Amino acid sequence: MTLRVVVTGNIPQAGLDVLASAGVAAEPWTSNVAMSREQLLKSVQGAEILLTLLTDKIDIEVLDAAGPQLKAVCNVAIGYNNIDVDACTKRGIIVTNTPGVLTEATADIAVALILMVTRRLAEGERVIRSQTPWQWGMHYMLGSGIQLKQLGIIGMGAIGAATARRARACGMTIAYTNRRKAPIELERELEMEQLSLDELLATSDVVSVHCPFNDSTFHLLGKSQFATMKTSAFLVNTARGPIVDEDALVAALESGEIAGAGLDVFEHEPMVHRGLLNRDDVVLLPHLGSATTETRSAMARLGAKNAVAIATGGEPITRVN
Ligand code: GLV
Repeated sequence: MTLRVVVTGNIPQAGLDVLASAGVAAEPWTSNVAMSREQLLKSVQGAEILLTLLTDKIDIEVLDAAGPQLKAVCNVAIGYNNIDVDACTKRGIIVTNTPGVLTEATADIAVALILMVTRRLAEGERVIRSQTPWQWGMHYMLGSGIQLKQLGIIGMGAIGAATARRARACGMTIAYTNRRKAPIELERELEMEQLSLDELLATSDVVSVHCPFNDSTFHLLGKSQFATMKTSAFLVNTARGPIVDEDALVAALESGEIAGAGLDVFEHEPMVHRGLLNRDDVVLLPHLGSATTETRSAMARLGAKNAVAIATGGEPITRVN
């Protein structure tokens, strides 16, 4: 295959194998240090297909640097907010992502965060590691039980549903808010009803974010939404940081408007709001949602299959635009 495919990140071998076995000549980035902006602008020159990571900002400058022969941007991520999809569409550039393969891994992290923040698990671990004296006691380090509590899911896509299934196995009840009503079979399976965002925030004991990040979900949760939540409620975000107004979140935690937060993503990733760092009522993870060996290989494979399909004139499996 003569198409020039540039892989902008150090992706798992499984993805490179897919490219190689289709005879697609790819130039992989082999360093564990991500490409700088300068390196990205240089490496994309003359590329016909880009295989990108969520940390690569693919904007007009990058599209221009690549040149008019660019056919596709294949993101190795489910989220594609790092790509200017409108600009790609206007230029006839195909954008693909990797939905489906990271559903379960991300739902695992959402539920892990629910348990960590409600049961104070990270705080407890810090007690042990810092060798702070402790003793079992009836009133020692009590958390909030989740059984019969309502999990409010914002964004009832595949990851929202997988999180809901796990939460139900832990004894939680489910409510959701979504642009569209979920299929009736899913509503029946999860015994859940659709609420408005405000109703969901006002009635949920844990609110978990699973919607995509785009212009309409920027700061979806801010000052007035935190004021609407129960003071005993927890926020969990495994979707994208900018969906939550981090300044407003810190203010809500400081004033006791909500009880805590479990975050796998941050507004200005990899920077974390200083107001979150020393709080025991928050759990902070470094964007681990899809971080299993199996899932990352599956993501690389799907991204590469999309690239191969486009390179061979076929239809990609998971097209965005
Ligand atoms: C992970 O955050 C992804 O979008 O794949």
